Amino acid sequence: MTTNPQKQSRLDPEPIARRDFLGLSALFATASTLLFALLGMLRLPKTAVLSSPAKKFPVVLPDSLAVGEAFIPTGRAVAIFRDDKGVHAVSTICTHLGCVVKNNPQGFECPCHGSRFSTDGTVTKGPAPQPLPWLKVTRSGDKWIVDEGATVAKGTKAT
Ligand code: FES
Repeated sequence: MTTNPQKQSRLDPEPIARRDFLGLSALFATASTLLFALLGMLRLPKTAVLSSPAKKFPVVLPDSLAVGEAFIPTGRAVAIFRDDKGVHAVSTICTHLGCVVKNNPQGFECPCHGSRFSTDGTVTKGPAPQPLPWLKVTRSGDKWIVDEGATVAKGTKAT
């Protein structure tokens, strides 16, 4: 009995046609592209705007709060200042695209596109088109009630 050297073993894989190989390669490349695009979309930055359950909230300012120093209540996009003329609050939501600005000794800086604001909300560097709005503050006993939904004219302070 003679053996055929061309005969394949049952363990050898079936040869794949060039056309099938190219088709599978294209399918794999397309699937990989879609997978990486999906991963990229999931990693897009989220807006930094904080959600707040109520627009009005009470604040007790610490006695140690110095003139010109911002008090930023936890979870709120508001900076509250106190001086000898009263108390005022400035929104910390950037007027460019709504990111929450960060407080620094010079005022505020937006982490998204680099806008800067002085402590009274004035734009000192764009692209922000408007100053940070001042928010309504009223006094209730030893607390200050800040209303994130109501703006007041710049310079309006509660006493
Ligand atoms: S969102 Fe603040 S500079 Fe663009």
